[in-house]
Order: sequence, then structure tokens, then C-alpha cells
Amino acid sequence: MKQDNREYRENNLSYDLNEQNLISPLDTESPLYEPKIRLGILASGNGSNFEYIIKSIQNKKLNADIAILIVNNPNCLAIKKAIKYKVPYVIINHRDFDSRFEHDMMVMKKLEDLSVELVIMAGWMRIVGEEIINRFNNRLINIHPSLLPSFKGIDAIQQAIDKRVKITGCTVHYVQKEVDSGSIIIQAAVPIKEKDSKETLKKRIQNMEHIILPLAIAKVANNIRNIIKDNK
Ligand code: GAR
Repeated sequence: MKQDNREYRENNLSYDLNEQNLISPLDTESPLYEPKIRLGILASGNGSNFEYIIKSIQNKKLNADIAILIVNNPNCLAIKKAIKYKVPYVIINHRDFDSRFEHDMMVMKKLEDLSVELVIMAGWMRIVGEEIINRFNNRLINIHPSLLPSFKGIDAIQQAIDKRVKITGCTVHYVQKEVDSGSIIIQAAVPIKEKDSKETLKKRIQNMEHIILPLAIAKVANNIRNIIKDNK
């Protein structure tokens, strides 16, 4: 872990050097694969995870291009980050559609039109339907602010505080029909301190999210490239 901490600090990725945080040691190496993977990012909120994906690409920790950021909320801050880093984005507002299915279909069409290979739900506060899940089988991943399978669904951080658990964390997992239930790719544990408020805990969880999401993307991208190689 020490090595990784130093590395993340050197690369100017904000990280609270807290030795108590824990990522599975097997998961701290970013695999090297070629060629670049084409990502589609789905976001609804502040876009801090989106920003750390961009930074990981800039720092050559992640061999990827972001084909598109798709947001469903026209006021979300992720849009400002897309503008700042010159990443193409599109607003597909769910309120403009009569049904979840129609909204999903528009999102899927956009991803397909841009030949996206791997889809990242980086704070996408919507349940995705079976069509997208099947179309991007093993190529659709989500980040969730708890140690799944604990605290699925909304407000996971508050759920952990309410249950008075001592350790929570974050999880990157494949997306399946049942919410927050797909196979786990990477997790990081974050201890809950006595004086924690929801905001202080959220900050520490998100610091870990910013580390594990790019690692998980690299891991899945590496799998995708190996599958393609095996099939040749
Ligand atoms: C992240 O903490 C992510 O785990 C959470 O939304 C936040 C988005 O932050 N996702 C969920 O709760 C999904 N169930 P960001 O917009 O700053 O990346």
C-alpha cells in the first residue's frame, strides 16, 4: 500500500494518507493492455469520479479514451468538468422521455453510435434496464459507496452510519438486473470514526473511490482485450 500511496500523491491525485484504508493487495496493480479502450461514462452528480478517470488517463495509469460523458441531469456539475477537460458530453434528460425504456434506448443508441466498449456508471443515479445490461454484458460497471453486499440502494453512506458499523467503504462491480448485486471487481475499506459526520465519511470514501475506479476500469479493460485475443 505504501508504494501506491506515494505514487498517487506524486501524481497529484488527492489522497488522504491513511494507512487504515485497505484495498485488496491483489488489486493495486494497474494491468497494461493494448490498444486503448473506448469508454462511455454515465453520471448524474458532481462528477468527481469522472474527473479522476480523466486524470488517470492523463497520468497514463489508464489506457483509455472517453468517447462520451452522458448525463441525465442538465444541472449536474459533471458537465462543467467535461467542458473543463474538453470531453464530449450529451445531456439525455430522463424527464424528456415517457418511459424508462425509451430513455434507456436513447442512452444505448448513443453508446453504440460511438462504438463504446466499456460503460462506467460513475454516480449514475438511475436504474438501468435489461436491454442495456444485456447489450453491455460484462462491459457495464458501477461504483457504489459501501462494501457490498451491505447497504445496497440509495444513501448507502447514511445506511452505514445508522447501522453503526465500524468499517464501510466502496465497491466497483459489474451491473446486473438486481440493483448493486453484480460480481465485485474491487473494494476498498474505510473505517468509520467516532466523530465522523456523513460529509467527512463521504469525503474519505470518495478518496478511495477515486483510486479504485480507475484500477477497476483497467482490470476490466484488460479482461476485454484478453477475450478478444483468445478469440482470434
Ligand atoms: C459516488 O460516491 C458514488 O459511489 C455514488 O455517487 C457518488 C457520485 O459522486 N453512487 C451511488 O450512490 C450509486 N448507487 P461523483 O458524482 O462526485 O463521482
